[in-house]
Amino acid sequence: MKTPLTLTLLAVAAFSVAAPKTEMNAFIDDLMGKMTVEEKIGQLNLPTFSGEIVTGQATNNGVAQAVVKGQVGGVFNLTGVERVREMQRLAVEESRLGIPLIFGLDVVHGYETTLPIPLALSCSWDMDAIERSAHIAATEASADGICWTFSPMVDISRDPRWGRVAEGGGEDPFLGSAIAQAMVRGYQGPDKATQLQANNQIMACVKHFALYGASEAGRDYNPVDMSRIRMYNEYLPPYRAALEAGAGSVMSSFNEIDGVPATANRWLLTKLLREEWGFGGFVVSDYTSLSEMIDHGIGDLQTVSARALRAGLDMDMVSHGFVRTLKKSLDEGKVSQAEIDRACRRILEAKWKLGLFADPYKYCDPTRRQKEIFSPEHRAAAREIASKCFVLLKNAPAKPGQAPILPLRKQGTVAVVGPLADSRANMHGTWSVSAKLDACPSLVEGLRELTKGQVEILYAKGSNLMDDPAYEHRATLFGRSLHRDNRTAQQLLDEALATAAKADVIVAALGESSEMNGECACRTDLGLPDAQRRLLEALLKTGKPVVLTLFTGRPLTLQWEHANVPAILCVWFGGSETAYAVGDVLFGDVNPSGKLTMTFPKNVGQIPLFYNHKNTGRPITAKQWFTKYRSNYIDVDNDPLYPFGYGLSYTTFHYGNIRLDKTTIAPGEALTATVTITNAGDRDGAEVVQLYIRDRVGSVTRPVKELKGFRKVFLKAGESRDVSFAITEELLKFYDYDLNHVAEPGDFDVMIGGDSHNVKSARFTLR
Ligand code: BGC
Repeated sequence: MKTPLTLTLLAVAAFSVAAPKTEMNAFIDDLMGKMTVEEKIGQLNLPTFSGEIVTGQATNNGVAQAVVKGQVGGVFNLTGVERVREMQRLAVEESRLGIPLIFGLDVVHGYETTLPIPLALSCSWDMDAIERSAHIAATEASADGICWTFSPMVDISRDPRWGRVAEGGGEDPFLGSAIAQAMVRGYQGPDKATQLQANNQIMACVKHFALYGASEAGRDYNPVDMSRIRMYNEYLPPYRAALEAGAGSVMSSFNEIDGVPATANRWLLTKLLREEWGFGGFVVSDYTSLSEMIDHGIGDLQTVSARALRAGLDMDMVSHGFVRTLKKSLDEGKVSQAEIDRACRRILEAKWKLGLFADPYKYCDPTRRQKEIFSPEHRAAAREIASKCFVLLKNAPAKPGQAPILPLRKQGTVAVVGPLADSRANMHGTWSVSAKLDACPSLVEGLRELTKGQVEILYAKGSNLMDDPAYEHRATLFGRSLHRDNRTAQQLLDEALATAAKADVIVAALGESSEMNGECACRTDLGLPDAQRRLLEALLKTGKPVVLTLFTGRPLTLQWEHANVPAILCVWFGGSETAYAVGDVLFGDVNPSGKLTMTFPKNVGQIPLFYNHKNTGRPITAKQWFTKYRSNYIDVDNDPLYPFGYGLSYTTFHYGNIRLDKTTIAPGEALTATVTITNAGDRDGAEVVQLYIRDRVGSVTRPVKELKGFRKVFLKAGESRDVSFAITEELLKFYDYDLNHVAEPGDFDVMIGGDSHNVKSARFTLR
């Protein structure tokens, strides 16, 4: 059955999706002229799909029925191209006006082919790789009916207790901004002028707006309280960068800001986002963040819904606050027709930009699924990308005088031991909702496959994830069970030691499970869990060389491990191809090149610990870590265990002194800082060259250093290369006390190095 309007809609199929805005406006004006208030409010509703099969008795499903009644603007968590197609058919053919739906999903780091978790990806410092990873995700998701992803997550994170640090790009706003833009290009298309035209380009949703990474005590959903100057300089840049790259939507965060939850925060959603930044897309709430404002204590469902709409929220994810109360609020004069129209228009515009009015089935081509999802090409790319993300934290000889343990030779016997050694489901990492958990090899399986005929790979579990089964249960949800072993700890250990006794080298696969980080996986103790730490101690006591292959979604406190384990390779969660990528690095086919994007503290008490901190009026001097009445602790120094930007290679890079082509620049001028980097070892390798700047004197206090440039360079063994950075006045700008974006005259230190602590330095002046 087709209504007259559906026919009108089909008639626009010939329009180009890149049609001028006026054409879009005219179309939407016309459409909105035909919509009832209820249908307009329906567009603001984003329910989650509860899992029933749509095809066939589709209308028996609650969501499907609401779709037919015009009460739904988009559906999320519905996957499978046939099911999406059927739901879209209901919207287009059976609702009165035939308005197509958008289909959203958390395509956070891949789809069926999973890429490394975002924190890991950021450690590649490789924007092409990151863009490619998002493009792979978009291609696969769109081949399965999805046109909208709740990604990128660009929250600056300085508190590793917060489990969600795994989902973002770490602690730095400059790097975070570059990553945000790479992700948007990967999802929506590289060219802003043609974004979203192809059927493998999907709409990005920048989240969580805003400041979610700064929730108090590193605990999920907790309040944020932050000065404006800190927001502008340190937390907001990545959101803005993503929008400048064209991101079509924004998700409001769970936290409050200045006492008002983000979802109803008018300053945030209208003054900053619309009026200052000029954002023209739509804002969706986070999952029930609208109705959660009842518990925040700012009103009942009707009140919080009205407040959210007036503040600038356009779409309500799951709360049903808009569909249930906005009509009543309109009748009672609590919201205006114009406010409902504004939100409705923004959502219809998104559908237009996605090309759904031209072709509602643009993302429903069932022939794509077979060839584009989990394809050999995507898996090969995922493996290559994963190996760029691992960070070599330590690589010492097993015994003095010997060569460093890594890379391992492809010979002899290797014992792979630990609770993460043989768990396929735990290779993907958090937020891999569409991963086929079992379709990729576990570490042991992958290593066996890679080294077949050359290395004998033995395996023992060695320990459970942790001693406490209840904690282990909380840490292994969503099909990620590690299958708790009911043998005693001693039996598990005995087996591991017997296995290790037969091996030349021990690879200890330890750390967090996939679900020990991510949403609602905050931790107050960031050490290796008890059972694993005991296992590691016992393995070290064997006297055999031990490599710690560390699975984690956050910085951990590893002081003891650093002091005692000769080699530590942080592999995060590398996605579906983790096992192969780890093998590539362990056996030296790939030289590790990842660098940390979050500081690893020495202990939890140092948190928050980040490299771009302020100096205080009583800084400690470099050599003396404790001085009475200086800014320090009496039990531990202020230094991290591993600083931001840190990561080793199988080769060594030497940095020459910084050469400046000028030491003074006038406003509007630029200078060039150059260093010669030499690969001084006997292996080819890639180095992330990092540029930091310190503003020596400002009208407000300035950080001790800030990342202002980076370049990943590949150097053959023995090769030298000049790496130059242009330093413009723009690069020196910051937000001052009155939030003006200014560069102030004075002296600046320019620092270049392989991590934030090891730098060469020079000075210049801005006149
Ligand atoms: C998370 C978001 C996510 C949403 C939808 C929320 O709980 O905070 O990051 O996009 O759920 O799944």
